[in-house]
Amino acid sequence: RLGMLELHWELDSTSSELQRRIVEITDLSMVLAETQSAGRGRRGRPWLSPPGLNLYLSCLKRFDSGFASLSGLSLAIGVIVLRALNTLGVAGAGLKWPNDVLAADGKLGGILVELSGEYQGPCAAVIGIGLNLRLTAQLREQAGQPSTDLASLCGGTPPDRNRAAAALIAALVEGLSEFEHNGFEGFVEEYAQHDLLRGKSLRLHGALGELDGTGAGVDARGALLLQTETGLRQIDSADVTVRRV
Ligand code: BTN
Repeated sequence: RLGMLELHWELDSTSSELQRRIVEITDLSMVLAETQSAGRGRRGRPWLSPPGLNLYLSCLKRFDSGFASLSGLSLAIGVIVLRALNTLGVAGAGLKWPNDVLAADGKLGGILVELSGEYQGPCAAVIGIGLNLRLTAQLREQAGQPSTDLASLCGGTPPDRNRAAAALIAALVEGLSEFEHNGFEGFVEEYAQHDLLRGKSLRLHGALGELDGTGAGVDARGALLLQTETGLRQIDSADVTVRRV
């Protein structure tokens, strides 16, 4: 069940707001902002967050199981975002491991999961989701990566922003409860239906250098499976970048 729901005009970041109040906030609380002055992306990148166009939402979810069991959470969130889009009648989006929501090779949304607490004990996830409803030409240029928006997927007119927020919130409430009970295993099949990397030639860049192979899906823990010349590898680290080559 939804805990607290707050709508702000401006925050530095909806995720930072939840982090600051993490001790006192009820489970499954959500914070949305019309605009963020310091929106955060993965790997310390900024997430441009002008008012009036897009959705910026963060959600706090507590787990008793410890974050050892949350390896697939950010992939499950990708599935949850696609479910919300499906409710809105938006088709054509897919998932790029570990947690990009893409359409026509541009980024439609970003997911940032921050875990805190114990490895095997009470812990909390702050899940931040940015969804592009309508990007200006300037935003596309400033984004630093190919980006797209729901307007492009919907023939020019994106879904109503309130409806989109409601669909996302409902999908999160239901999906996070599913994840709590069944973990990522309950999402694996659905993830596979939207997996944009399966069967593609990939080049991974990470701390250990480059690795080439073919995407072979994801396993029940959310690791990327890569068929390489020397066999099937499981890639865990969220710190690798994946390119289609
Ligand atoms: C990414 O780099 O792909 C993740 C982007 C996540 C952006 C969202 S917007 C709402 C929430 N607040 C933030 O500061 N970041 C996340």
